[in-house]
Amino acid sequence: MDLPIVTSDVVIVGSGLAGCAAARELKRRGKRVIVLTKLHPLRSHSGAAQGGVNAALSEDDSVELHMFDTIKGSDYLADQDAVELMCSKAPETIRWIEHMGAAFSRREDGRIAQRPFGGQSRPRACFAKDRTGLTLLQTIFEQAQRVGVEFWDEWYVADLLYEDGKAYGVVAYNLRDLQPTIFNAKAVMFATGGYARAFKINSNAHANTGDGLSIFARHGLPLEDMEFVQFHPSGLAGSGILISEAARGEGGKLYNAQGERFMERYAPEKMELAPRDVVARAIMNEIREGRGVGPDKMAVYLDLTHLGEEKIMERLPELRDLAITFLGQDMVKEPIMITVTAHYSMGGIPVDIDGHVKRSPTTITQGLYAAGECACVSVHGANRLGANSLLDALFFGRHIGNTIADDLDKGIELRKAEAADGKGMLEEIDFIMHNNGTERTATLRQELQDSMFENCGVFRTEASLLKQREILAQLRERFKQIRIDDKSKTFNTDLQEAIELGHMLDYAAFIVEGAIARKESRGAHYREDYPERDDENFLKHTYAYMDPEGNISIEYGDVVLGKFQPQERKY
Ligand code: FUM
Repeated sequence: MDLPIVTSDVVIVGSGLAGCAAARELKRRGKRVIVLTKLHPLRSHSGAAQGGVNAALSEDDSVELHMFDTIKGSDYLADQDAVELMCSKAPETIRWIEHMGAAFSRREDGRIAQRPFGGQSRPRACFAKDRTGLTLLQTIFEQAQRVGVEFWDEWYVADLLYEDGKAYGVVAYNLRDLQPTIFNAKAVMFATGGYARAFKINSNAHANTGDGLSIFARHGLPLEDMEFVQFHPSGLAGSGILISEAARGEGGKLYNAQGERFMERYAPEKMELAPRDVVARAIMNEIREGRGVGPDKMAVYLDLTHLGEEKIMERLPELRDLAITFLGQDMVKEPIMITVTAHYSMGGIPVDIDGHVKRSPTTITQGLYAAGECACVSVHGANRLGANSLLDALFFGRHIGNTIADDLDKGIELRKAEAADGKGMLEEIDFIMHNNGTERTATLRQELQDSMFENCGVFRTEASLLKQREILAQLRERFKQIRIDDKSKTFNTDLQEAIELGHMLDYAAFIVEGAIARKESRGAHYREDYPERDDENFLKHTYAYMDPEGNISIEYGDVVLGKFQPQERKY
């Protein structure tokens, strides 16, 4: 089949904050840039971020303090050169987006309001009520459109064109009519979001299936630090829908079934505003020891009633709505039930500080870039500081847009694509459409999510991880017997979800293998059988590779240290 070929300077996959910010910079610098997205851009998951975006703006704060909090929060796994770059550019990034129209909440004196977040020495999260991500996304999307970025909505990217260390495009199909098309470009950037959807209870959008990660891995490219998955302390009981850390930042208190403010036992100084890994473990511990609340005793109480209706409506209106809609609980009148929820991916596609995708710990690819949650720079190390994700996406999206423009100005040759380059995607579609098996996408996905939460969640052991390795091997085998009912070409969500499930199964194996190999506890990766951090053996980044049979091998790379030497982490 002869596939149409669309040629561009740059193709960006994903239209969240990172994708839009990069696209805008590129277009302003005169490059043709196409953004491919399986959604409408305003439905990208950046829009679901609620609580804030960090920058050291106030007189009593500093870039140095922001760096320190980020690095300590990361359990010293973050690369300190990347952290310094991001934190030092944070104030300017806020002014940049504000001048483009982002309407931040204000203090009485008119300056941008900032609220406390977990693990921070100062109130540092700039916010727009509890809709910060949506406000930023609307602003940057509008500005990208204003300069003429081409958005190709509802296109599903299923393969990368990559050979001999060089990328030259992607293969995608139009969700409307299944039209396969090759996008041939001098430079390719992925900004496809994170991978927390592999877990039963998660805060991620349905679309967050981590496609970019598995697409890269299938080309033999490494994934970095995949074992580090952030469990946010507060998701709505049952569903895991995010209840922003802003709720605790504004003064929310946590109680167990016995009415104890249990954080006193786990982080006496910071209490509810300890970093996420600490609070999430505390909540799970209370639940495990039988002090949970709710019908299945799998939640704890978050009490905001003392804030009063006026403050809740001024600062947290969306959260109130969410709890009423999904739990029937009004936070103005009663404590609401929350539980930990898989939220953020610290690991991902390894990139250098300028967004070039790495082929190994020390070598980079050509013409290939990644930014946002799918990328691992690494500024979050083993545990991300709340409100650093919007900063990461916005700052690095913009920065990498400029890196790509610089690289194009220096000269990147277009390697010409051929129709045959679409073969991989066409074979994948053909297999899923016509395979006459017995396995269903929803069943396999549910088993994957249940077992990942159970065996590779907040608490992990050798035994639970080996069990999960076995379960995953079986699920990946069963996927070969997949069967879908919808054979049509029009918005075939059966087909799309099956392809996405294939991606989830592949990257889940990276999470499990990384977790088995890392015999220590660091940040969000907590091994009950190795409860201490082990800097001697594991102050290093995991780089994992998948061979054509689906087996995963691991090597390690150096962490970039700097002025903050690893210390014991106490809160
Ligand atoms: O809790 C929140 O509002 C989430 C913010 C974040 O993940 O940075």
